[in-house]
Amino acid sequence: AKPVIVAIDGPSGTGKSSTSKAVAAQLGLSYLDTGAQYRAITWWMVTNGIDIEDPTAIAAVAGKPEIISGTDPANPTINVDGTDVAGPIRTQEVTSKVSAVSAVPEVRARITELQRSLATSAEYGIVVEGRDIGTTVLPDADLKIFLTASPEARAARRSGELKGADVNATREALIKRDAADSSRKTSPLAKAGDAVEVDTTALTLQQVIECVVTLVEEKR
Ligand code: C5P
Repeated sequence: AKPVIVAIDGPSGTGKSSTSKAVAAQLGLSYLDTGAQYRAITWWMVTNGIDIEDPTAIAAVAGKPEIISGTDPANPTINVDGTDVAGPIRTQEVTSKVSAVSAVPEVRARITELQRSLATSAEYGIVVEGRDIGTTVLPDADLKIFLTASPEARAARRSGELKGADVNATREALIKRDAADSSRKTSPLAKAGDAVEVDTTALTLQQVIECVVTLVEEKR
């Protein structure tokens, strides 16, 4: 069978990562977390003292870090210049800075190229999750899903993940990051015209996974 390419986009806290990983594992596909790549380049910028407020400075070094994503859904990995950064990319510092770094066109061009090359080399196909996969990175994907959920549901899920985090503060931070991601000039967070929208507010993770698996199977 021809490899199947699935794009899953949406704002934070909609269950994109959990859903994408489970669908890939269940169907024997590769998996790519593109948010982890933007977090990894942001971590590198912070670690190397690049001024996050200065898009020109960011653009000048966007090609420097070597970013390697492992695409096994059972063990997705992310390395920068040979260092495992899976932990450091989830800190509050990186989370608060990633939208500024990912808005720089040179950063997006660089990361988009990595994403396309991983997607086209996946033997059985791949589930790629992000913000602009269906619109920009893989406009010819076999299936495009756009996950949504109410801000309350998204904040509750996120603060559940970040044990003990304040729900209100988490909601404010999420809304701020989504607004930045949706309003940037280059490939903003957006639903592709041909994407299937799935509102996950009232669904369990298992229900969302089943829904997406069914949609993929219809395409194969
Ligand atoms: O999905 P995650 O929350 O890890 O994404 C972190 C950030 O990476 C997003 O807030 C966004 O700024 C950026 N991102 C992006 N395009 C993607 C995936 C993530 O700009 N395809």
